[in-house]
Amino acid sequence: MVARVVAALFVLLFWLPIITPSSPSLSVCIVGSGIGGSSVAHFLREYSSPSASVSIRVFERRGVVGGRMARVAVGGESFEAGGAILHPKNYYALNYTKLIGLKIRWPNATSASDGREDDGDFGIWDGKSFVFKTWRVNSKLPFVDKIVPLANKALLFWRYGFSLIRMDNFVQRTVNNFLKYYESTNSRPVFETVDDMLKWAGLYNLTGNTLEEELISLGLSPLLIRELITVITRINYGQGVSISGLAGAVSLAGSGGDLWSVEGGNWQMAAGLINRSNVTLHLHEAIESISNLGNYYELNSSQGNSYKCEVAVVAIPLDEVDICFDPPVSIPPRKLQHTHATFVRGLLNPAYFGLRYVEEIPELVSTIEDPGVPFLSISVLKRHDEKEATYKVFSREAMADALLDQIFSVRKETSRIDWGAYPYYKAPEVFAPFILDGRHLYYVNAFENAASTMETSAVAAENVARLILSRHFGDVPLKLSASESSPANTGLHLEL
Ligand SMILES: Cc1cc2nc3c(=O)[nH]c(=O)nc-3n(C[C@H](O)[C@H](O)[C@H](O)COP(=O)(O)OP(=O)(O)OC[C@H]3O[C@@H](n4cnc5c(N)ncnc54)[C@H](O)[C@@H]3O)c2cc1C
Ligand SMILES: *[C@@H]1O[C@H](CO)[C@@H](O)[C@H](O)[C@H]1NC(C)=O
Ligand SMILES: *[C@@H]1O[C@H](CO)[C@@H](O)[C@H](O)[C@H]1NC(C)=O
Ligand SMILES: *[C@@H]1O[C@H](CO)[C@@H](O)[C@H](O)[C@H]1NC(C)=O
Ligand SMILES: *[C@@H]1O[C@H](CO)[C@@H](O)[C@H](O)[C@H]1NC(C)=O
Ligand SMILES: *[C@@H]1O[C@H](CO)[C@@H](O)[C@H](O)[C@H]1NC(C)=O
Ligand SMILES: *[C@@H]1O[C@H](CO)[C@@H](O)[C@H](O)[C@H]1NC(C)=O
Repeated sequence: MVARVVAALFVLLFWLPIITPSSPSLSVCIVGSGIGGSSVAHFLREYSSPSASVSIRVFERRGVVGGRMARVAVGGESFEAGGAILHPKNYYALNYTKLIGLKIRWPNATSASDGREDDGDFGIWDGKSFVFKTWRVNSKLPFVDKIVPLANKALLFWRYGFSLIRMDNFVQRTVNNFLKYYESTNSRPVFETVDDMLKWAGLYNLTGNTLEEELISLGLSPLLIRELITVITRINYGQGVSISGLAGAVSLAGSGGDLWSVEGGNWQMAAGLINRSNVTLHLHEAIESISNLGNYYELNSSQGNSYKCEVAVVAIPLDEVDICFDPPVSIPPRKLQHTHATFVRGLLNPAYFGLRYVEEIPELVSTIEDPGVPFLSISVLKRHDEKEATYKVFSREAMADALLDQIFSVRKETSRIDWGAYPYYKAPEVFAPFILDGRHLYYVNAFENAASTMETSAVAAENVARLILSRHFGDVPLKLSASESSPANTGLHLEL
């Protein structure tokens, strides 16, 4: 009997101190439910040990999650309105779709229910004429189908020459450097600043020069820079070749082959990550203030609610929102580039382009920098029949009805979105830190002036999640892959 009591006491004494203090807890409030905020939630779950009790709240001012991954309804059908295309090496996005069970939509698929039809032809419009145009042949012969892309490659080569190969090498090199961010957490440090993160992957220097400077130093022809490259940066970032070399390389990578999107909408990645991360989601609730009250942050919302969290994560661009920080935070000024996306169901007017037949207008009308060109690009999202298609027009200014009436001969439905789309890029870029106050207030979108894409948001979010856990818990509950559980933290930059 006595032995039993002693044994029981022994067990109690022995286990109690282990059980109580070793059940660490953490409360995190995330502002924004785009790919950035939802990825932070996902990686917090992925990396925190099961013994840690981590509670996560996500705040979204709108009624849906996904942010700039949003759909627009035109003529009863839905299309990507913001972030549309993903690169075949966007590994986090690829993993998300697998994890959540979403379907990938390759542009080569036959059922083009949304997104852009990639096999279409394209032309470069200078305001007066098409300075370049690829061939389109509507043929049922597989032989011709194979020849046309080859002929178009030859056409491109004819106009731009070996500079195309130099451009390709530049993009490949940059993409390969970026792949370092998928290395094992064993060898990949946690970064406290965007500068450190970019330097580690060999990408920082590219933010110091403009794309134009970078490409000239690589010996690319001025014609290629003025035309094809400008066309691409205008489509992807609404800006010309004065953007940084890094934003430019990312933009060029997003114009290659094998680009994909999520069937039914990219926003489902955010929805799926939030759904499976045991998150308390607050829709229709904008955060208006974040105050540091010592051991926690107090977040006040548009609903008049007040939330307390040990860690606060800002997963929105701070450039155009006025969240009131107490104490105030100071970050380098940054402007957003606005892209007006205008969706039209109708038919383009060939006369506007100096053509006789609408079939002669390329599927993608791209443009060079010229004050006389009132839009960035016009692309066919879907052809309904010979008399009707759904188009997406990108422009820097809102498209007035009078202008649309010149460009379109038929306009049955028009829908407009003014996006605070991405940073206005310049060189050299100056970055805000990931840690806004030196304590536990984090900023995912500090990475956005390196480049703004769905994948870069996820990559920045992964780093922020590791930063949160390593700084909050020290080396305790970081759960990395089983084989690397103990020595894993040697690579972490810990600040205790
Ligand atoms: C027209 C356009 C085309 C693009 N094309 C591509 C592309 O083809 N490929 C690609 O990879 N990327 C593309 N991008 C960029 C890509 O969409 C973004 O980089 C990415 O989606 C940003 O995600 P995020 O989570 O960082 O921010 P966001 O998606 O902006 O998420 C922020 C969220 O926070 C919410 N919010 C804001 N303020 C508050 C507040 N105070 N309280 C609570 N919630 C708040 C917002 O409503 C939003 O839902 C494009 C962007 C645009 C606009
Ligand atoms: C979800 O998180 C809450 C804390 O936010 C926790 O109490 C609950 O046990 C978690 N549920 C699951 C299924 O993990
Ligand atoms: C489309 O391309 C992808 C990637 O190259 C490939 O895996 C897929 O099989 C292709 N699908 C079709 C229908 O050709
Ligand atoms: C994607 O998922 C696979 C399998 O779960 C994993 O091995 C791989 O490391 C993941 N890739 C990234 C970039 O996280
Ligand atoms: C970046 O520039 C610095 C200074 O000019 C140079 O020392 C360094 O080698 C460059 N890094 C890379 C990766 O090119
Ligand atoms: C959320 O996840 C569960 C499985 O974990 C699934 O059954 C459900 O359909 C998901 N809900 C949404 C809205 O994705
Ligand atoms: C936030 O709300 C609380 C409770 O209503 C209030 O005491 C506090 O002053 C508010 N903070 C700010 C910055 O408005």
